[in-house]
Amino acid sequence: MGEVVIEGKTKVVHKIVGSEHVLLQSKDRITAGDGDRAHDMKGKAAISTATTTAIFQLLNNAGIKTHFVKQHSDTAFIANKCEMIPIEWVTRRIATGSFLRRNPGVKEGYRFCPPKLETFFKDDENHDPQWSYEQCVAAQLTCGGVLIGPDELDIMGKTTVTVFEILERSWAALDCSLIDMKIEFGINPTTGEILLADVIDSDSWRLWPAGDRRLMKDKQVYRELKEVTQDALDTVKRNFEWVAERVQHLSPKPHARAVVLMGSASDMAHSEKIKSSCTTYGVPCELRVTSAHKGTDETLKILAEYEGLGCSTVMFPEGAGLCAAQTLAMSDHVIWSKIRAKQLNTWIGLIHADKKARNDK
Ligand SMILES: Nc1ncnc2c1ncn2[C@@H]1O[C@H](COP(=O)(O)OP(=O)(O)O)[C@@H](O)[C@H]1O
Ligand SMILES: [Mg+2]
Repeated sequence: MGEVVIEGKTKVVHKIVGSEHVLLQSKDRITAGDGDRAHDMKGKAAISTATTTAIFQLLNNAGIKTHFVKQHSDTAFIANKCEMIPIEWVTRRIATGSFLRRNPGVKEGYRFCPPKLETFFKDDENHDPQWSYEQCVAAQLTCGGVLIGPDELDIMGKTTVTVFEILERSWAALDCSLIDMKIEFGINPTTGEILLADVIDSDSWRLWPAGDRRLMKDKQVYRELKEVTQDALDTVKRNFEWVAERVQHLSPKPHARAVVLMGSASDMAHSEKIKSSCTTYGVPCELRVTSAHKGTDETLKILAEYEGLGCSTVMFPEGAGLCAAQTLAMSDHVIWSKIRAKQLNTWIGLIHADKKARNDK
């Protein structure tokens, strides 16, 4: 382990000698209100690391570009070293908390469709002031050699909303409502790529089981404490543990599959393309050879095996995989997340291509 890159309120970031990775070591520390309230909480580092690890694995698996590499110990994980962009990206599905104070007249519970996006400049001393999109552009921040302009802001904005929607859907499968969320991005100085960075844990969101505010399981419980007693801290810790345990169940194994029936083995090359498209979306795909003309009995037997299989016709192998993925995504949020992230990455690719076309002129 090398020198300390930065030490914040809840984490220490260490260089790893001879690599472009860093170690994010979590502390047994809980803070709120830009550090005005702060307490030691034994076990919090492990709870936070377990939560963050599961969330970043879920997002990496979906195809979102993040800094997360792997968990290193109970309380630390390895990530790509980033030059952090000092903006907090906030998304909200339901209006509550600081949004209501900043927008008098809006009733608690107002539902944003699409999710509301807000940006705050990371500056504890000035209580992280809200920045408009135009202020973010005007600041001309440069991180890791990249000027943070409209394209970069658009990429982070759209990625934030996509990440929110993926996590919202994932939590919904466990009957929990993701109310809002804050995240940070960094630049990989070697590639110039924008990566989702920092952590995503119980400090990053509001989470209401069964959509019921009274059951909240996030750091808001700590923020709202009138008096911070040991009992109260134990309750907060139990909530965080509850989340760290649940989060492990956010990525279920696929429970459905696509099946390709080929009339003969000569269709194999074509069918392999279908399978490869299915795999992109995490849809297990089985290839079977059976001829309805020459071996009707056998084909019917195979069909009976896959009882309940719906059929649709598509012309191109990639389309067949996508079709299967979209059908299954209706009840499988892991597959849904992969489709969503793939759309995002295609969109980001176009922004980069357009920027290059403009610069090459
Ligand atoms: N991949 C990374 N590379 C370098 N720094 C990072 C990375 N991910 C997060 N950080 C930074 O680590 C610092 C420590 O985290 P934290 O204790 O949460 O700080 P803060 O008190 O500023 O919120 C933060 O400044 C954060 O931006
Ligand atoms: Mg932080």
